[in-house]
This record gives sequence, C-alpha cells and structure tokens, in this order.
Amino acid sequence: MAVQKTDKIWHNGKLINWDDAQLHVLSHVVGYGSSVFEGIRAYETSQGPAIFRAHDHMQRLVNSARIYRMDFPYSVDNLVNVASELVRVNKMGACYIKPIVLRGYGEVGVNPLNCPVETYMACWKWGSYLGPEALAQGVEVCVSSWTRIAPNTLPAMSKAGANYMNSQLIRIEAIKNGYAEGIALDADGHVSEGSGMNIFLVHNGVLYTPPLAASILPGITRDSIVTIAADLGLTVKEAVIPREMLYIVDEVFIVGTAVEVTPIRSIDKIQIGKGSMGPVTRKIQDEFFAIVNGKKADRHNWLTHTNTPVAAAR
Ligand SMILES: Cc1ncc(COP(=O)(O)O)c(C=O)c1O
Repeated sequence: MAVQKTDKIWHNGKLINWDDAQLHVLSHVVGYGSSVFEGIRAYETSQGPAIFRAHDHMQRLVNSARIYRMDFPYSVDNLVNVASELVRVNKMGACYIKPIVLRGYGEVGVNPLNCPVETYMACWKWGSYLGPEALAQGVEVCVSSWTRIAPNTLPAMSKAGANYMNSQLIRIEAIKNGYAEGIALDADGHVSEGSGMNIFLVHNGVLYTPPLAASILPGITRDSIVTIAADLGLTVKEAVIPREMLYIVDEVFIVGTAVEVTPIRSIDKIQIGKGSMGPVTRKIQDEFFAIVNGKKADRHNWLTHTNTPVAAAR
C-alpha cells in the first residue's frame, strides 16, 4: 500500500518536514537492520481521533530498545505526548503511527555501539490492511514453509526491524502462492503467528492462543482480545498448539494493529467451520470495533484522545 505523505515527522525532539526525514545510506540500520519500532492505530471517535493503547505500545518500544541496548532519552509518557502532537499537527483522522528507534550514521562495522541512536515518529492515513472485505468475509491463509525465528536467535519479544526479514519470507511466499497471509510454526513445529499478527483458535466455545514461548510478538491486540473475551464470559487458554489443530477447530482468526480482528476462511485450502466468520469471532470483532471507535465505554482506558478536532471541523 502506498504511503500518503503528511506534513510533519518528529525526529529527536523536533518536528521536521516529511521530505527532510532522510538517512545516510551507510547508517548502521541500513547495513545491519538495527532498528526497533511500533505500529499503532488512531481511530476516529465522536471526540476526534484517539490512539489505541498508546502507553502499551510505547512501553513495548522501550522494551524492544532495551533488549538491544539502544539508549534513547524518551519516556513512555514523552512518546505518547509526541504521538498525540503528531496526529494534531498533521490534522489526521484515523491513522497509523510509527515510532522508529534506529542506529544511525557513525561507524560502519557490525559493532553498533558508536553509532548515534535516532528516534523518529511518523503517521499517515491507513485503512484496513487486507481490504475491508477481509474483515467481513475472512481470508484464506496457508501454513508457511518458513519457520518463525527460533528462541535465542533474534528475540521475538523485541519488535525489531530485523525480525521482519523472517516476516517478509512468510508473507512473500503466501502472496506468491495466492494466499492472503502465512501462519508460521515455531522451531518445534507448533503454531506461532503470522508475518505481522497473532492467532486465535476457537474450539467448543473456548479460545486458544499460542504462548510467548512460541516465538510470538507479545501483541497488544492479542492482549486486548484476551481481555475482551473474558469480559464476554469466554474462556481463553494459552496453549502449545499442534499444526493439525488448525484444520479441525470451529473458528480461527488473526489479530494485530494491522489486521485488527480478521476471520480465517480456510487454511491450506481446508475450510474452517462454515468457511465464513464464526459466531465467536463476530462477537469479539463487534466488541473490539465498538471500543476502539468509542461507540462503547472505554472501560479499560485504552484510548488516548488527541484533542484533534472531530472530522467535520478538520
Ligand atoms: C510479528 C507480529 N506479531 C504480532 C503482531 C501484533 O501485535 P500488535 O497487536 O501489538 O500490533 C505484530 C504487529 O505488530 C507483528 O508484527
């Protein structure tokens, strides 16, 4: 999807013009993948755009950087304020917000420690990731031939740019073979996650999702779905999931900032349930969108209002 330019990007404490957010080609991040980042959505509400779980995303960014010993001077609260400011100055409605912490231009060897750590944040307008029909009709996915990053290789809990080389292999293979997305297994052959999303299975009314030890990113949408499911009186279990479970359960859906709550119609051409959105997925998706769009009370304090005028006044 082509990015839609906005006015300003934030860099190390200052707002700069979109076109001025440039890097030297020998920046450490270019040669060695040394970046951590976040992907966050702001949703349009009746009080203007509100950022979904801003603090949790920024805390994960701080954690991701800590794992790689990237020191940067911004607190979670600082970063949340910057995200709100960015939405305001760019007069955004619903949008995607991407903070990036990277190793910049300095030395050119593998050792990153003498390269400056740079912090950027950008936002842009973004719709549904797999298309609006995907949210309603569901998508067809495959199990990837690529294994998810193994424990103690690239840390899966850090949302690092380098991890997305693995994600790219999963996604490219899926697209080339005519699927919307690929589901990767972990190094033990158990269900892990998609290229940029977590997964839930529903069987006999109970929800199952792989644990952190299955090389997953600790998804903030995943956490939200666990909370929403509990609110709805559903049982959720973190469980090691054998691949073949995918083919015999009643419902499967994928979740993430990008895909939100997207039903799966089939896996490796084996139909899941009735081949359309199942009743549990529908209940969870309805509740999720009602909360993020401010149509239901924000009972878990998940929304940060940005004090940006509502759509009609922008
Ligand atoms: C590999 C991976 N897993 C899971 C997720 C879902 O995480 P979240 O719900 O925090 O967006 C993402 C998206 O960021 C991801 O890239």
